[in-house]
Amino acid sequence: MLKFLALSTLAATALAATTLGDGYCDDNACITAIRSGGTDTWSIAPVTPIPHDNFGWIAIGFGKNMPNSPMVILWPNADETFTLSQREANARAPPNVTETPPRVATLDAAHTYSNSSATSFTFSIPSSEETAFPIIFAYAAINPNSTSPSAPIRKHAWTGHANITLTELKEEGGGTKPHCKPKKRRSMVAL
Ligand SMILES: *[C@@H]1O[C@H](CO)[C@@H](O)[C@H](O)[C@H]1NC(C)=O
Ligand SMILES: *[C@@H]1O[C@H](CO)[C@@H](O)[C@H](O)[C@H]1NC(C)=O
Ligand SMILES: *[C@@H]1O[C@H](CO)[C@@H](O)[C@H](O)[C@H]1NC(C)=O
Ligand SMILES: *[C@@H]1O[C@H](CO)[C@@H](O)[C@H](O)[C@H]1NC(C)=O
Repeated sequence: MLKFLALSTLAATALAATTLGDGYCDDNACITAIRSGGTDTWSIAPVTPIPHDNFGWIAIGFGKNMPNSPMVILWPNADETFTLSQREANARAPPNVTETPPRVATLDAAHTYSNSSATSFTFSIPSSEETAFPIIFAYAAINPNSTSPSAPIRKHAWTGHANITLTELKEEGGGTKPHCKPKKRRSMVAL
């Protein structure tokens, strides 16, 4: 029993210590994904910083195209809060709110900010089964002007696609982080 406990503790430690990640930038946005302990943590920010008062909404979707891809849509509010809304569309049309998403996304408020110089979002979501999968992303310049996750949203100004491949990140200086340099198709460096 003791041996089993010791082994499973070891296995749990090894599992927790494995951190996977990837990053992607195009001309418009930089995205990072970190997988650790059954949770994926996603960050997305425009390459050209957009201040709070000009920020509309930004989104990451899990899939190849907009139709049938679960999406996490995020925006800053006038009252300094942030709204996270999970939606899905069956066509290239305004997506419906997903009332009970199979994977519930949670805003990571400590790593989300929007101020007079820039806006950046981080959220966590239970890990999927896959380590390599396509994503879509989008930005709209018009803010919904509502804190409600079911607020109507306007159409995106730009969109992008990426193939995410989560690979092991080596620990350096006590931390792990995928590096992502703007203005390059695929520039993530696993440390
Ligand atoms: C939103 O849901 C309604 C009701 O189920 C459905 O008719 C409509 O096609 C959905 N719209 C999108 C874009 O998925
Ligand atoms: C905006 O927030 C970021 C992240 O916290 C910070 O680095 C930056 O200095 C802030 N800018 C202003 C003008 O407050
Ligand atoms: C939100 O308010 C801004 C500033 O008044 C405005 O430009 C924008 O069109 C509004 N958004 C919507 C969805 O009406
Ligand atoms: C992702 O991979 C698919 C299949 O290999 C490819 O057709 C597509 O162009 C890739 N997308 C991007 C944004 O690199």
